[in-house]
Amino acid sequence: MASEDTFKKLIAHAKEYGFVFQSSEIYDGLSAVYDYGQYGAELKNNIKEYWWNAMVRLNENIVGIDSAIFMHPEIWKASGHVGAFNDPLIDNKDSKKRYRADVLIEDYLQKIESKINKEITKARKRFGDSFDEPQYRETNQRVIGYQTKINETKTRFVKALEQDDLKEIKQIIIDAEIACPVTGSRNWTEVRQFNLMFSTQLGSVSEDANTIYLRPETAQGIFVNYLNVQKSGRMKLPFGIAQIGKAFRNEIVARQFIFRMREFEQMEMQFFIRPGDEMQWFEHWKTARMKWHKALGFSEEKYRYHDHDKLAHYANAATDIEFEFPFGFKEVEGIHSRTDFDLSQHQDFSGKKIQYFDSELNKSYVPYVVETSIGLDRMFLLILSNAYEEETITKEDGTKDQRVVLRIPPALAPVKIAVLPLVKKDGLPEKAREIINTLKYNYNCQYEEKDSIGRRYRRQDAIGTPLCITVDHQSLKDNTVTLRYRDSMKQDRIKISELNEIIFNLVNMKTLLEKL
Ligand code: GAP
Repeated sequence: MASEDTFKKLIAHAKEYGFVFQSSEIYDGLSAVYDYGQYGAELKNNIKEYWWNAMVRLNENIVGIDSAIFMHPEIWKASGHVGAFNDPLIDNKDSKKRYRADVLIEDYLQKIESKINKEITKARKRFGDSFDEPQYRETNQRVIGYQTKINETKTRFVKALEQDDLKEIKQIIIDAEIACPVTGSRNWTEVRQFNLMFSTQLGSVSEDANTIYLRPETAQGIFVNYLNVQKSGRMKLPFGIAQIGKAFRNEIVARQFIFRMREFEQMEMQFFIRPGDEMQWFEHWKTARMKWHKALGFSEEKYRYHDHDKLAHYANAATDIEFEFPFGFKEVEGIHSRTDFDLSQHQDFSGKKIQYFDSELNKSYVPYVVETSIGLDRMFLLILSNAYEEETITKEDGTKDQRVVLRIPPALAPVKIAVLPLVKKDGLPEKAREIINTLKYNYNCQYEEKDSIGRRYRRQDAIGTPLCITVDHQSLKDNTVTLRYRDSMKQDRIKISELNEIIFNLVNMKTLLEKL
């Protein structure tokens, strides 16, 4: 999937087939908030299971928790979110549209990058096999010009972000002649900081009520439970605490469907370690997390690491795992070495000693932390955008047909098996239900009897069901069925007694976890 058009089709498909709906749609929707439909909820649960099992089940020293969304307001002061969890905003005075100033600059840089890529694609066509890309980048004047512009702007931008220099960020926008994407106007306001946390009141009487925040990350729920888990679980360093849960951010630029939402879910793991071991564990988790992604079998070229130029206030190393979405390479997961920042801050703010006694070193210290943090909704979008394919197929009679197929990794597919009686009579529905009754305890199955078998196959392809079992008159005689595979559309005649093993080998979560 490359084009914007196909992305639009994907969004329409997600709605039409019950994966993702706009929140509050009958009231004209709520911006950047989405609901998951019947297949979306299943896919989401399967992604969570894959992550949870990879983290908690496969690692003896990682345990999982589920902390509350509401937390003591001091937590967000300690974590730095009250003071520093801001986005730089800029308004266009003519269009009255509001933008994230950093995103305007990043989009500008990306546009120049695409110009370079266009030049390179043209040159590659022209020179064929003899094309030497590094040499071309070094010698072509137009490419050099673009690259210089990127480097100069990037250097200024990183420095401005590091120094929180909002005037300079505006100046970069002016110098780069960045215009409002809607109207083309360059009439900008000053850049201001805007805190991304949602707040609400806890307590029944407004004068007594405390302002509390909806958590903008799940990580703090882990940090404040570090002592509880370490003590109750008698955990020894290094060990990890994992959690899946909702997070909330008042995103200003909320776009690209479920890529950037105001209410979303995170799957985070904090790995507590000895100070000084952080680079070794940072590398470990970088590799382990990439392996988790690649086990899904999507094209390897679609993944890359992106090391941060500007580190967050708590980190001494950070990288993103980026994936090539239909709208370009974007972050799906972050791996951060967070030092002892969070635990030390909570120690200071709460007045409670948060330390670990290391019996090997015979001393106590505040552990360091390496964090892995992935957005569940982004992972969902990654899978959907990779799985979506419009395929031209040749039918048995030689004519061409089209199908939309979601090639979701079978272990994550919302429905694993559809059981389809060829006709709605002659005892075939009963036989189909008999089969479902043996499979439904292990797999999400669907029974479908309406429409022709071809149409039913197409519907299952469109929701990504890896296997269809068709029950026909022969099934009643010899206990065999037709097993049809989503990806190859191959059909095999097999014994009902063989179904369990074939299904297990294709769709069980073990098929993914074994690759890790
Ligand atoms: N605890 C660290 C942390 O929250 P982050 O880079 O801000 O780091 C981690 O977020 C991940 O959460 C991102 O890589 C992304 O997948 C997801 N995420 C962040 N903001 C999001 C949003 N507004 N909508 C959807 N997913 C988001």
